[in-house]
Amino acid sequence: MYDLDQLVAQATAEFSAATELARLEDAKAGYLGKDGSLTALLKGLGKLPAEERKIAGAAINAAKVQVETALAARRDALKNAQLEAQLAAEALDITLPGRGQSRGGIHPVMRTLDRIEQLFRSIGFEVADGPEIETDWHNFTALNTPENHPARSMHDTFYLLDETGKVREDVLLRTHTSPVQIRSMLAHVEKYKHLDTMPEIRVICPGRVYRVDSDATHSPMFHQVEGLWVGENVSFADLKGVVADFLRRFFESDDLKVRFRPSFFPFTEPSAEIDVAFMSGPMEGRWLEIAGCGMVHPNVLRFGGVAPEKYTGFAFGMGPDRLTMLRYGINDLRLFFDGDLRFLSQFQ
Ligand code: PHE
Repeated sequence: MYDLDQLVAQATAEFSAATELARLEDAKAGYLGKDGSLTALLKGLGKLPAEERKIAGAAINAAKVQVETALAARRDALKNAQLEAQLAAEALDITLPGRGQSRGGIHPVMRTLDRIEQLFRSIGFEVADGPEIETDWHNFTALNTPENHPARSMHDTFYLLDETGKVREDVLLRTHTSPVQIRSMLAHVEKYKHLDTMPEIRVICPGRVYRVDSDATHSPMFHQVEGLWVGENVSFADLKGVVADFLRRFFESDDLKVRFRPSFFPFTEPSAEIDVAFMSGPMEGRWLEIAGCGMVHPNVLRFGGVAPEKYTGFAFGMGPDRLTMLRYGINDLRLFFDGDLRFLSQFQ
């Protein structure tokens, strides 16, 4: 009875000593639990005479309130400490400088392709697409290249292997974008087969092509842009006009000289190489070959399902990698494909 103050003091001290919530609950049990000392005192009240019971009961209850208050205070303190520790552990240091986000950029060759597409769309061309793994038929046969024709080896083709590792002769990595001529004609003819006269075919096809070749001006993978215009009265004059006008717009120069030099391709007749020369600047007066072209060979029209008696057309295949080198004064083609940011970021 007399040591109630001491009991409260002891409980408070024990609670303070508990540094974890679980330990605090253990300490609480010693006073307020089923077998706790305060509980025992309360239980013992019944044995006391009535007046004493009243006084003792009030005193014990007062002590119990004090113990409960001390317990609640310690519980709050421990919970706060726990929360603070958690906040500190999960803290975000907003004073750290941000990581930043580096800006992506457009590859110079892709810039050229975008520009070529834009210029050709402006004169009514559509943009077509074709597979990079192509059949021998689309890549060579339908382009009027006979079996064993030297033009087939001219291209140094990458052939695909079958499961046993043997070279397949019917599929290859396309050596040029010209097979898209065949694919475009076949699709167009099918689409307009209900008409007596089909609308003109006017497509370009930018894409990757592959040849066994590698040095400063040749890469085993490079780009081409194929062009095809087929209609009822399409002439070599149209070819010259379209290509020369495109090149002047592409290089933003009216001083550009464009030359058509007789050449040979199995799929065009007559055929020409297109050369350009600048009349000023570091490349002044040097002729550079940038495309092959010609009037679509009647056999190629036939393979595309187009009647050569009724329609004529021209085609060209140019090298956008070369065009990009010329436009920006780059002397090594391999820089385009090395992925070196010191080079690439100069074009942003
Ligand atoms: N396919 C030819 C080449 O890769 C280029 C070309 C395309 C020539 C269309 C004439 C007509 O060299």
